[in-house]
Amino acid sequence: MEQVVNLDSRTYSIHIETDILSRIAKHFQRFRDEKIFIISDVRVSNVYGVTLTAVLKKAGFSVELLTFPEGESSKSVETVSQLWQALVKRGIDRHAVIVALGGGVSGDVAGFLAATILRGVRFVQIPTSLLAQVDSSVGGKVGINLPQAKNIVGAFWQPSLVLIDPHVLGTLEPRQFNSGMAEVIKYGVIMDKEFFLFLESNVDAIKELDSTVMCELIAKCCQLKARIVEEDETETSGRRAILNYGHTFGHAIENVFGYGVYLHGEAIAIGMTLAAKLAIESKHCDKSLLIRQTELFHRFDLPTELPGDLPADQLAALLDSMRLDKKSTGGRFNLILPCEIGRVEFTNDCDETLVRKIVFD
Ligand SMILES: NC(=O)c1ccc[n+]([C@@H]2O[C@H](COP(=O)([O-])OP(=O)(O)OC[C@H]3O[C@@H](n4cnc5c(N)ncnc54)[C@H](O)[C@@H]3O)[C@@H](O)[C@H]2O)c1
Ligand SMILES: [Zn+2]
Repeated sequence: MEQVVNLDSRTYSIHIETDILSRIAKHFQRFRDEKIFIISDVRVSNVYGVTLTAVLKKAGFSVELLTFPEGESSKSVETVSQLWQALVKRGIDRHAVIVALGGGVSGDVAGFLAATILRGVRFVQIPTSLLAQVDSSVGGKVGINLPQAKNIVGAFWQPSLVLIDPHVLGTLEPRQFNSGMAEVIKYGVIMDKEFFLFLESNVDAIKELDSTVMCELIAKCCQLKARIVEEDETETSGRRAILNYGHTFGHAIENVFGYGVYLHGEAIAIGMTLAAKLAIESKHCDKSLLIRQTELFHRFDLPTELPGDLPADQLAALLDSMRLDKKSTGGRFNLILPCEIGRVEFTNDCDETLVRKIVFD
């Protein structure tokens, strides 16, 4: 399957095929005479990077594999600085191609390298986590963290090509897979009722990584995200904001609990649940949306509630963190609230009392 992201001169294709990686040489023909640098975290490098590099070398490509330690902490100036220097040492030139192989961390790091080295070189995404396949590899946002804030340094840098192999999800830890499913379910709720129904009726096939179902699922998510990115490439019109459904609550949960307690998708599942509760309370939608959304989250072992015994100071910190979220202004919360499955609304006057009631109840 192929999805095209239409962005004038930056238009590119996303190819989604089971075992596409075994046919990588065919897709890389256009880079035949260039230096290729595959950037990957150590885990993904061991599982796929080493083999992929060998396959390309055997097919006559000039290719090198550069790795960095696994985990969010590698989205740092230090890692990028080491990789910049490694690329220069290996004679990178303006025609070179940087390949991101891995989850969202590899995509963000390799993409940032591609955007910055020699003022920008071509970039290919080979996302291997579900989150990266349905979300972070589409849209061109790349970047790193500073100790003060996540994703605070970066660029919009579109790839020239995206290759997605659902087969590689077989080696992903189940908890990581389920976390990615939270973003998948999000697309259904915010934009596409039919897709939500598709998810509801294919839970078992998804869990078994059925090839046809997974290709369709990933292609649909890429298509939905691509449509939004096409309308709002650099996040200026506000259209891209609907992708933040559940994220104001979710980011606050990630901040208050600290990195690693909840995976991103787990925090977002709780966040989407709180947002749906708020939508019911403020008469934006009826209860059935919450029931169906919750049911689907639970089928993928995703949490939908904060721990019951949260101390008051942690709850207060949660509200503080939401207030600090860049989407909030003057004591009122800017939130994306669902109206019905497949449609959300932006509200910029959500009252703090109501938010407190939802979070504290
Ligand atoms: N740029 C964007 O638009 C965007 C969007 C959403 C998220 N993100 C970023 O993405 C990151 C999270 O992405 P992630 O959840 O993929 O994290 P990740 O890259 O750390 O991958 C999660 C874990 O899975 C492992 N892994 C990945 N693919 C595997 C496979 N096929 N088999 C075995 N192990 C595999 C990785 O080594 C890692 O340990 C965050 O830094 C977030 O900020 C970026
Ligand atoms: Zn997200």
